[in-house]
Amino acid sequence: MKAQRREYLQALDLQPWMRRQGPAGAPQLPGGAAQGLGGALQGPGGAADAELDWPELRARVAVCTRCGLSATRTQTVFGVGHPQAQWLIVGEAPGAEEDRQGEPFVGRAGQLLNSMLRAVGLAREEVFIANVLKCRPPGNRDPTPTEAGACLPYLERQIALIGPKIILVVGRIAAHNLLATDAPLGSLRQRTHVFGAGRVPVVVTYHPAYLLRTPTEKRKAWDDLKYARRVAAGG
Ligand code: URA
Repeated sequence: MKAQRREYLQALDLQPWMRRQGPAGAPQLPGGAAQGLGGALQGPGGAADAELDWPELRARVAVCTRCGLSATRTQTVFGVGHPQAQWLIVGEAPGAEEDRQGEPFVGRAGQLLNSMLRAVGLAREEVFIANVLKCRPPGNRDPTPTEAGACLPYLERQIALIGPKIILVVGRIAAHNLLATDAPLGSLRQRTHVFGAGRVPVVVTYHPAYLLRTPTEKRKAWDDLKYARRVAAGG
């Protein structure tokens, strides 16, 4: 087990013996509750998003034309993983490779995300991975508020169907959309936020693509993962 942990930390370019920076065990603070973001939207089938089961939701997303991204996508990227996962990972939007393959986090950032998950003992198959947007914004630009607003009911329904113990949000854009805030990412880390009426605990960390560009921040991401693991365990 020790050797396994060492291997995962090496994948994160972290030395097992390094001391963490900053104060140990930052206290959990009550987070702002993001309110329900929709769910009343209806598709051609008539039922509200909030009433759909997994196959119905998947089918509705696959033919979605609620925003202009439907015109430029190759395909929608619904999400992947265990339908009753304890951990839900939420990113921003599909990139070029995800748009091609129809699966979230399959590029270089996805490889790092897999390593980050393994570092806390989670296989990709046992979590659920989704994005705020189900379609790729051209050139990987940031989602517009209209696009995010149109797409969020799908994520809301995914959260309700999964019933996760924790939502790990990766990156500023996903955090801003899910938590309805524009606070800097650094101020959102190491706190427990909550999502929706079910008050699902939400923990925020850096986006793996950012960590690839800024490997010096990987230590902080590791601290966030350990914090998230404590939250998922109930304390
Ligand atoms: N970045 C994201 O936020 N999501 C993906 O699916 C891929 C890259």
